[in-house]
Amino acid sequence: MDQLLIALDVPTGAEAVRLADLLRGRVGGFKIGSQLFTAEGPAIVRTLTTRGDRVFLDLKFHDIPNTVANAVAAATSLGVWMVNVHASGGTKMMQAAVGAARNTANAEGRPAPLVIAVTVLTSMTAAAMSEAGASVPVIDQVSRLARLAQEAGLDGVVASPQDTSVIRSLCGPGFSIVTPGIRGGAAVTSKDDQERTLTAAGAIAAGASYLVVGRPIIAAPDPREAAEKIADELRAALPSQS
Ligand code: C5P
Repeated sequence: MDQLLIALDVPTGAEAVRLADLLRGRVGGFKIGSQLFTAEGPAIVRTLTTRGDRVFLDLKFHDIPNTVANAVAAATSLGVWMVNVHASGGTKMMQAAVGAARNTANAEGRPAPLVIAVTVLTSMTAAAMSEAGASVPVIDQVSRLARLAQEAGLDGVVASPQDTSVIRSLCGPGFSIVTPGIRGGAAVTSKDDQERTLTAAGAIAAGASYLVVGRPIIAAPDPREAAEKIADELRAALPSQS
């Protein structure tokens, strides 16, 4: 199930490899975020990419354009399939990220990773945005940053499933939308700390390209069975694809 990405939010490389071995072939890829990367470094990325896994390196780069370009170049050399930056870093920073991905990939003869943008963190409320100086409705800021990312040449955005339909109509069919916050339906867990959730089928119906699912799968008693149930729900929502 190509559209289903697993968040490897675990403290050790050994646990990440155990989960990847369990789920390989049944899911579309694995997301490595700041917890696992900070604990294990690039070795865990290389371990998975050399096994042929698609890795989404979720480090949400946000720095001056030169620094972000160098970080994206390093991620590209690790063979990641997807990497992300904060759209609020601005057009020049996003353009530098895309340029670095393409140039490094060309120089090394490998495919360029998808470069996607975080718009507004799903943990942010209107009050928290206002504190930080953006006194606008969250969806307006999400929409603004999604368009900015698209104009800068990025491949897509990470978004709450509940913002997905607005972004899809704004940015058109070719733009990737990656949605975490999947709960309910086959994702049978508590909401944990996710608030603005949708089911896997609901997110696909809203226009999501990829779903990132963590705890409903990795904390399930049988992660493989949990992944298969969500994949089944996705298949039913996408009858023409696998
Ligand atoms: O366990 P759960 O399914 O909630 O995991 C969702 C994953 O997506 C986590 O790795 C989380 O950090 C990530 N994420 C998110 N919201 C965002 C961006 C990333 O939940 N806006």
